[in-house]
Amino acid sequence: MKIELNDNKVLFNNGSSSQEIHPFWLRERVSNEKYFDNNTQQRKFDPTFLNTDISIKSARISNDLLEVNFNDGVNFKLEINKIIQEFSKDDFLIQSISKEKWDSTLGNINKYNFYDEIYESKEMYNLLTEFYKYGFVIFKNVPTNDNFIVKFANSIGSVRRTNFGEHFNVKSVPNPNDLAYTSLPLAPHTDNPYRNPVPCIQLLHCITNEVSGGFSTLVDGYTVTEDLKKDFKEYYDILTKVKVKFKFIDKDVVLEGWSELIKLDENKKFKQVKFSPRLDFVPILNKDQLDLYYKARNKISSMYNSDKYKIEFKLMSGDLLMMDNYRLLHGRTEFDANEGNRFLQGAYIDFDSTEGKLRHLKRKFNF
Ligand SMILES: [Fe+2]
Repeated sequence: MKIELNDNKVLFNNGSSSQEIHPFWLRERVSNEKYFDNNTQQRKFDPTFLNTDISIKSARISNDLLEVNFNDGVNFKLEINKIIQEFSKDDFLIQSISKEKWDSTLGNINKYNFYDEIYESKEMYNLLTEFYKYGFVIFKNVPTNDNFIVKFANSIGSVRRTNFGEHFNVKSVPNPNDLAYTSLPLAPHTDNPYRNPVPCIQLLHCITNEVSGGFSTLVDGYTVTEDLKKDFKEYYDILTKVKVKFKFIDKDVVLEGWSELIKLDENKKFKQVKFSPRLDFVPILNKDQLDLYYKARNKISSMYNSDKYKIEFKLMSGDLLMMDNYRLLHGRTEFDANEGNRFLQGAYIDFDSTEGKLRHLKRKFNF
C-alpha cells in the first residue's frame, strides 16, 4: 500500500489498483495547530462549512510526508502512514476478529485469573480478542465483596444501568418479577430483548454456589444461525424477516421492543439473535406465513436446546462470566434451594466498553 501523485492528484495504491483520494477528504484531515486539537484529536473547524469543490494546487511527497497546497490557501503536511492506516484493516479492529463457530465439543473454556491490574494489561487485550472470537470469557478469583461487579464493569468501560438497577441479584426469592429469581431451570435465552437498545454484554458473577445443580449453560447463536441457514433456508429466511414484539411489565414500567429473532447487518451477515419465547408476541400474519414462522421458531428452539450446541459448566464463588448477549444464549439447570445458597450478581455493559478498551490497549502496547 502506498500513496502516489499524478498531476496534483493524490492516489492510493493498494498493490493491485490505484484510486484517487478526494481532495476534500485530505482537506478535512488538515491537522496543524490552527485547525486541529492534538489533545482531543478533534477538529477546531467545522468541515460542513467548507466549500466541497476544494481542489489541490500542488502536492509533493518527501520522506514520509505528503505536502498539499489547497486552492483555499491552506497548506499542510500529513504523515503518509496515517493515511494508509485509514485504508487498512487496522481501522476496523473488531470486524477484523473473525468469529469462531463452536458447539458442545468446545474444549478449553476461556478462563483468566483476575488480578487488580488486569484491566490495563496485555492479557486484557488478549482476552478481549478471545471474547470477540468466542462470545465469552470467564474470569477466576474475582473479589466477591461490596458488589464488586459494578467496579469490574466500570473498570472495563461503564456499567449499563437498567430498571433492575446498576446490578441485579440472581437468587430465588418469593413472588419474583422474573423466572430468573426462582430455582427453576432456565432454557437458553438472550437477556432483555424488550429493551431499546438491548444490553450488549452480560456480566454474571458467582458469589456463592452451595447447591449440586444450577449449572450454567451457553449456546452459540452464531453457530446455530449459520447451521439453520445451511440446512433450513426457508426457516432462516422467515426468522430474519418477521419482527415480533418482546414485552416486559412490572408495576413500574412497560417495556416493548420489536425485532426479528435473527437480526442481520447491512451486508446480510449475522448481527444478533434474540430468543425469549416466554415473552415474544408475533403479529397477526396470514395463516401460511404464521404456519412457517411457528415451524421455524420450533426448529431454532430445538437447536438452541439440543445437547449438540450447548456447553454446561458450574460457576463457583469468584467466577465471573462475561458473555455477548447479542451472540450467545445462556441458561441454567434446575437446583434445589434447600441444599444451600446459590447467589449470583449480574450487570450489563455495552459494546463501546469492550471496543473502547480493546482499541486503547492496542494503542498503549503498539500492537
Ligand atoms: Fe438471563
